[in-house]
Amino acid sequence: MNIPTDQDRVLIFDTTLRDGEQSPGATMSHDEKLEIAEMLDDMGVDIIEAGFPIASEGDFEAVKEIAERSKEAVICGLARANYKDIDRCWDAVKHAERPRIHTFIGTSPLHRDIPGLSKDEMADLIHDTVSHARNLCDNVQWSPMDATRTEHDYLCRVIEIAIKAGATTINIPDTVGYTAPRESADLIRMLIEKVPGADEVVFATHCHNDLGMATANSLAAVEAGARQIESTINGLGERAGNTALEEVVMALKVRNDIMPYQTRIDTTKIMQTSRRVAQVSGFAVQYNKAIVGKNAFAHESGIHQDGMLKNAETFEIMRPEDIGLASSQLPLGKHSGRAALRDKLNGLGLEVGDNQLKDIFVRFKSLADRKKEVYDDDIIALVADTAGDKAVEKIKLKTLKVVCGTEGPQTADIVLEIDGEEVSTSQTGDGPVDATFNAVKALFPTDARLELYQVSAVTEGTDAQATVSVRLSEDGRISTGQSADTDTVVASAKAYITALNRLQIRLTKSTPEVHYTDAS
Ligand code: KIV
Ligand code: ZN
Repeated sequence: MNIPTDQDRVLIFDTTLRDGEQSPGATMSHDEKLEIAEMLDDMGVDIIEAGFPIASEGDFEAVKEIAERSKEAVICGLARANYKDIDRCWDAVKHAERPRIHTFIGTSPLHRDIPGLSKDEMADLIHDTVSHARNLCDNVQWSPMDATRTEHDYLCRVIEIAIKAGATTINIPDTVGYTAPRESADLIRMLIEKVPGADEVVFATHCHNDLGMATANSLAAVEAGARQIESTINGLGERAGNTALEEVVMALKVRNDIMPYQTRIDTTKIMQTSRRVAQVSGFAVQYNKAIVGKNAFAHESGIHQDGMLKNAETFEIMRPEDIGLASSQLPLGKHSGRAALRDKLNGLGLEVGDNQLKDIFVRFKSLADRKKEVYDDDIIALVADTAGDKAVEKIKLKTLKVVCGTEGPQTADIVLEIDGEEVSTSQTGDGPVDATFNAVKALFPTDARLELYQVSAVTEGTDAQATVSVRLSEDGRISTGQSADTDTVVASAKAYITALNRLQIRLTKSTPEVHYTDAS
C-alpha cells in the first residue's frame, strides 16, 4: 500500500479529521468523526489521517475507534518528534489493519529557533524519533514542517536521515501556503534527484492555501514526482485551509490528457461527503467554490442557459453526476410521501438512517405546509438541521416566541432544556435576534463573544428558509453553528445554541497547536 507500483498512481491522503478539524471552530464529535472516516474509506481515500492522539483523550479514542473500524484505508495518526507522542499515536493506530505513524518537526530556521535546537541536535532528534516510530510500525511518514522555507541543503540532509531511519513516506509541507507552482515542482524534483534513497520512498505534497495556490502547488508537485497528495474535504484547515480533495481529484480526472495520473477515488461520492463535512464542521461551502459550491453547476445568464439546453458541454467541463449530484431539480410538495423524500435524498447523495428519515420527514411536512415547493437546497438544509450530534446537546431549544415591530423593545420568551432540565425566561433586546440571544444568555450565562452572525436565503421567495451561521469565541477557542428555518429568528436561536454547545466541548479540549514546536 505504501509505495505505488504504477508510476501513474497517486495516493490520496485525507487529513480532514486532523488538519481540517484543527481549523478554528471546526470541532467534530466522536460519532461525527467515525461517520466521516467511514465515508472517506468508502470513497476510496488511500490514507486517512484520523487525528492527533496525544492532543486529548477524545482525539485518542476517535483515532483508535476509526482504526478498529477501518476497511481498505491506511489509518494514520500524527505525532510530534518525541517518544511519548509516538507511543500514544501507535497505541491508537495499531488497531487498524493498515496503521501508519506520521511524525513531524519544524525544520525551517524560524521553527528550529523555537525549541532552540541547533541543526545537528535536530538531525539527531529526527534520527532517534523516526527510528523509534519504525520500530513500532512498518509504515512511517515523516514531515519536515515548513519545508518550503527550509534551507535546501539542510532539507536534503534531514530527509536522508529520516529515510535511513526507516521513514517510508516523506511529506513536504508548505505549512504557511507560501510556495508557488513552479517552485513546488522544482523542490520535489530537486529532492528526488539529490537525496540518497529517495527512490525507495513515496514523496507527498501537503499544501496550505494562504495565497490560493494550494491545489495548483499540489498538482505541480505530482508532475515533478510526488505520489501522495494530502488534502481535506472542502479544503477545510488552518487559516485559508488545505488543498481541497475534490479539486485535485477532479482536476486529475478531467485533465487526464495532460496530467495522466490515476486515483482510487469514487468521484460520485464527493458531493455527499462534502455536504456532510460542511454540516458537521459548521463550515458552509462558499457558493462559488470549485466542484462542490452551490453554483458550480448553476447557469444564470441567458446565453449560458441557452447553450446548456443545446449541449451541456458548452459550459460544463464535467457532469454533475460525476461528483454525485442529481441533475434533476424537481421540487417536492406537501403531497409528497416518505418514499419520494427517500428517493430525493438518495438522488442528492444524502444517506440517512431510518430514525433520521423519520425526523426529516416530520420537518419536511411542516416545511411543505408553509412553503409551496420544497427544493433540493431546502432538503439539504433540513438534513443539516436534523443531523446534529445529540451527545453534544447540553442546551436544547424547546420553544421560542418573539414580539417585534416598529415599537421596541422587542421581546423573546424562550424555553430551553439545559442538562435535561427545563428553564424559561423573557428578555428584551435591540431587535428580535438580540432579544433571543439575550434570553439564551440569561439562562446559560457565557463569556462567549459573537464573532459572526450571517443570514442567507436557501432558495428564492419570501417563504424561503433562512440559513443562519453563528461564530463564537472564548479563551482563544472558536466554534460555529448553523441552522435553517423559514423563521429567521428560530434559525438564529438554533445556530447560536449549536455554537454554544460546540464551544463547551472546545473549552474542555486541549489545544495541540500550542505544543507543535515542543520537540522534547
Ligand atoms: O502544515 C503542516 O506542516 C502540517 C504538518 C503537521 C504536516 O500539517
Ligand atoms: Zn497542514
